[in-house]
Amino acid sequence: MRSIDWDALLGVAIDAMKRAYCPYSGFPVGAAGLADDGRIVSGCNVENAGYGVTLCAECGMVSDLIRSGGGALVAVVAVNGDAVPVSPCGRCRQLIVEHGGPSCLVLMPGGVTAMSDVLPGAFGPHDLDSVGATPAPASSATKEGNDGDL
Ligand code: THU
Repeated sequence: MRSIDWDALLGVAIDAMKRAYCPYSGFPVGAAGLADDGRIVSGCNVENAGYGVTLCAECGMVSDLIRSGGGALVAVVAVNGDAVPVSPCGRCRQLIVEHGGPSCLVLMPGGVTAMSDVLPGAFGPHDLDSVGATPAPASSATKEGNDGDL
């Protein structure tokens, strides 16, 4: 298995955290992810006066993944304003599993944890397939190619 340079990922996440736009919560978050081709992608939280419109750091990170070429996430970390790993919220877990699959590793506050344990029983493309409600994307995270390929 590929060895993960968690210190490098943490450094990128901390840099991203410092760019967060969080005037409402005062809670900056930075996220960094390692893609399966070795790219490192990142994002920070971007809040909004319409509080529910807020974008989490992991959301920006996934956008960066897709924008910069797609592929699958193999490792992810998010940090808070103290540069300490923070637990991804439920919505972000759903985002990460879509683009990292169950084997993607997350540096949680308690240590490195596979997405299969971070979000057990995740809803995914297979649930859409099961009732023929497709076309479900066969994402790189499920090793069946990227539906966004041109
Ligand atoms: N936040 C993230 O960016 N990621 C998470 O996984 C949890 C929460 C942000 C959203 C909001 O801007 C702030 O943290 C406080 O909830």
